[in-house]
Amino acid sequence: MITRKVGPALACGCTVVVKPSEYTPLSALAAAELSIQAGIPPGALNVVMGNASDIGDTLLESTQVRKLTFTGSTAVGKKLIAGSSSTVKKVSMELGGNAPCIVFDDADLDLAVKGSLAAKFRNSGQTCVCANRILVQEGIYEKFANAFATAVQDLQVGNGLAEGISQGPLINEAAVEKVEKLVKDATSKGANVILGGRRHSLGMSFYEPTILSNVSNNMLISREEVFGPVAPLLPFKTEEEAIKIANDTNAGLAAYIFTKSIPRSWRVSEALEYGLVGVNEGLISTEVAPFGGVKQSGLGREGSKYGMDEFLEVKYVCMGNLNAKE
Ligand SMILES: *[C@@H]1O[C@H](CO)[C@@H](O)[C@H](O)[C@H]1NC(C)=O
Ligand SMILES: *[C@@H]1O[C@H](CO)[C@@H](O)[C@H](O)[C@H]1NC(C)=O
Ligand SMILES: *[C@@H]1O[C@H](CO)[C@@H](O)[C@H](O)[C@H]1NC(C)=O
Repeated sequence: MITRKVGPALACGCTVVVKPSEYTPLSALAAAELSIQAGIPPGALNVVMGNASDIGDTLLESTQVRKLTFTGSTAVGKKLIAGSSSTVKKVSMELGGNAPCIVFDDADLDLAVKGSLAAKFRNSGQTCVCANRILVQEGIYEKFANAFATAVQDLQVGNGLAEGISQGPLINEAAVEKVEKLVKDATSKGANVILGGRRHSLGMSFYEPTILSNVSNNMLISREEVFGPVAPLLPFKTEEEAIKIANDTNAGLAAYIFTKSIPRSWRVSEALEYGLVGVNEGLISTEVAPFGGVKQSGLGREGSKYGMDEFLEVKYVCMGNLNAKE
C-alpha cells in the first residue's frame, strides 16, 4: 500500500509523510529503512506514528501538505475528504469495495473455481478487491457450488509463515466478530452454510473458510465488505439480473466475470459500474495498470502513468510579446 503511493510521489519530486495503520506499523518502518539503504535522501520519506486523529488533523490543517492519499475504509475516507477542504488539498482515495464475481452458465468451470477461489480467499479475504459476492447462474449453480466447496475444503489454515498454509488469521478479534455477525444475519434470513460457518479451532482471530448458499443481495453480507474468509453464493437467472445485482451498491472497485463468450465479456465489462474488471482472471492488480474505484470506492488511480498524474499539477504558460533578440 505504501510503495504504491510513495513510489510515484518521489518520482514526481515530492517529499512524503506516511502515517501507517496502527495495526501494521512495522512494514512502514522497514520500507523507510530500505529507502535510506537505497539512497533516498534522509527526510524525503518520513514515517509518523501515534494518535491517528491528532496526526490526521495536523496533516489536514497544514498548508505545506498539498496532497493527501489514503487507503482504508470509506467512512474514514469521507472524513479526510471533508477535512481536506479547509486547505483545498488534492486528494486520492482507495476506499472500500463490494466486488461481485459473476459466474455465467457458459463459463469454464475449472477456471471459474480457480479464479473465484483466488479472488475470494487471497489474504484470507482481507483485501478491498476480494470477491465479496459470488453470483452464480442457475444452470451451473450446483456444479459450481460442489466444485468450489471441494476446493475451499483443501485450503490449509494456520500460521501464515508455515509451509503449505494459505489461510492465516484475521487481523484482530474485532474482524472475526464482524464476520460472525454477517454470517448470523445471512443464515437468519435464509442462507445455508455449505462449509465452515464458525470460528476455527485454532482460536483467537482464526475463522473457518466458509461458503454460504442461497444468499440474497439484501442481506448484510451482500451490503458490507466482509474482509474475511466467507464466500456468499447468490443465484441468478439472466445476464440483466446479474448486472442489476452487481451494480446495486455504493461501492465500485473490482468486479470479476467468468464466461467463454467474447461478446458477453465486452457487454458485461462495460455495464459493470466498477473501476477494475477481471474477465476469467481472479488476480488482476499490477503496478503497470491503473487501480482505483468509482462511486464511493474512491477517487483517482494508483499505478501506471495515471498514478503519476495524482502527484502532478498542470501549468499553462502563455508567452507573448518576447523579443527574440533580448
Ligand atoms: C487521540 O487524541 C485525542 C485528543 O487529541 C483523544 O481524544 C483520543 O482519545 C486519542 N486517541 C487515542 C487512541 O489515544
Ligand atoms: C432461500 O432463501 C429464501 C429466503 O431468502 C427462503 O425462502 C428459501 O427457503 C431458501 N431456500 C433454501 C433452499 O434454503
Ligand atoms: C448497472 O445496473 C444499474 C442497476 O440495474 C443500472 O441502473 C445501471 O444503468 C447499470 N449501469 C450500466 C452502465 O449499465
